[in-house]
Amino acid sequence: MPEYHQSISKLAEWIQNSPNTVAFTGAGMSTESGIPDFRSDKGLWTKTDPMQVATVEAMNHRYDLFHEFYSLRIQNVQQAEPHTGHTVLAEWEKEGKLKAVATQNVDRYHHKAGSRNVYELHGSLEKIRCIDHGHPANSENFLNRTPCSKCGSLLRPGVVLFGEMLPQDTWSNALNCIQQSNLLLIIGTSLQVHPVNQLPSMAKGKVVLINRDEVSAAYAFDLVLKGSAGEILQQVNQVIKGE
Ligand code: OAD
Repeated sequence: MPEYHQSISKLAEWIQNSPNTVAFTGAGMSTESGIPDFRSDKGLWTKTDPMQVATVEAMNHRYDLFHEFYSLRIQNVQQAEPHTGHTVLAEWEKEGKLKAVATQNVDRYHHKAGSRNVYELHGSLEKIRCIDHGHPANSENFLNRTPCSKCGSLLRPGVVLFGEMLPQDTWSNALNCIQQSNLLLIIGTSLQVHPVNQLPSMAKGKVVLINRDEVSAAYAFDLVLKGSAGEILQQVNQVIKGE
């Protein structure tokens, strides 16, 4: 059996035998839906400097640019949909094969595909709030630049900007979950962003990487599957189902 197929079979076997599997996803999980990642050839940060648009400073001093960048991202996510890979993870959760998904993604596609136990480490584009007091609003209000209906302040998406803390409860819950896992599936992330790139090293069980490009990490993965997340998850699922 060629090496790739052996790895697919091995992962299927590990998932079936693991009492506690957790997935940790990044932007590469959603590229097959048509949402660009950040650091690949066509990634967002190859065209735009994140410091110009995705920082607290940008929100406070360059709101036009900040608003334009996040409006395009919200519209992109609204126009696309989760793919089969998201659905496979949701199915595994329902079948008791997957405990949780910890994600850096802000598109809510794991929820939309049916996953319930999701830790959104970098927040969510959909959760709009006002900058001054955190009053809730909706995406249409943000896109139309309607000010907060309660206090009149400008609106922002509920994502973690560079310079902001991660949501602490979400972080500690994801960390606990990963520490207790027997099998951690890292999917579609370059592992370049702190502090979430520390999570894989906290795992005590097996750690598997599913990624299109090579990832330089300070530790050895137990298994690496090079390729597209959606295709690989689908293939592993077919082996599990005996198809
Ligand atoms: P990156 O863009 O840094 O990395 C995405 C990884 O996914 C790359 O290594 C790609 O090779 C891989 N990839 C792309 N498409 C794939 C596919 N279909 N299947 C498998 N792998 C694929 O994105 P993240 O690591 O998620 O944070 O970036 C982390 C954080 O950096 C983001 O959450 C965002 C960004 O700045 C904030 O904005 C706070």
